[in-house]
Amino acid sequence: MKIAPSLLSCDFSKMGEELIRMDNSGADWMHLDVMDGHFVPNITFGAPVIKTVRKYTNKPFDVHLMISDPFKYAYDFIDAGADIITFHVECDSDINATIDKIKGKNVKVGLVIKPNTPASAVFPYLSKLDLVLVMTVEPGFGGQSFMSYMLPKVKEIKDECKKIGIDCLPVEVDGGIGENTIKQAYNAGVDICVAGTAVFKADDAGKAIADLKALCR
Ligand code: DX5
Ligand code: ZN
Repeated sequence: MKIAPSLLSCDFSKMGEELIRMDNSGADWMHLDVMDGHFVPNITFGAPVIKTVRKYTNKPFDVHLMISDPFKYAYDFIDAGADIITFHVECDSDINATIDKIKGKNVKVGLVIKPNTPASAVFPYLSKLDLVLVMTVEPGFGGQSFMSYMLPKVKEIKDECKKIGIDCLPVEVDGGIGENTIKQAYNAGVDICVAGTAVFKADDAGKAIADLKALCR
């Protein structure tokens, strides 16, 4: 299981140091939650901030765009150093055009589904994607409770991949992951878990990540 700490729960006054701390704590990917106050009822940070902190780690930047028009801003996030860009299938942009725009720059791309969106919403795009992100909370805020009833979507996505001949498309989950929930995600076949509160609010982030990983067997 890969663990992607969500910087949404970090101390924003020292984001660079927080990235170094996560790097030293065994984080696999750095998850960066971009919110525009329109697609979700919260505002975080944008491409200029990501660009500024890119130099603090070599770990992949997993940029989760909770914005209404990812097509319009895709190049800004690529230029800022995103390695993986995920955007919502519920957004206002043309989905195929946005996927093509990101892939055209050799950046990995994933689609995200909110809790009320069925897994089948991403089926038409699976052959073009590098991963799918299944939200296990309503996007917008950290520290919410895990919606375990989202997990059957993971199998639905993996089954559809098999059906159409795609080998092991990774599935990521985001929201409410911690010591009490990660095993369920692991059992459901999840490959990457985002964890904000569980990692950043722990006394020892390295131990928190190691403990989360140890629960996945
Ligand atoms: C929610 C964000 C998540 C969030 C996860 O909109 O996409 O990445 O930070 O935080 P926790 O792990 O605290 O639920
Ligand atoms: Zn996220």
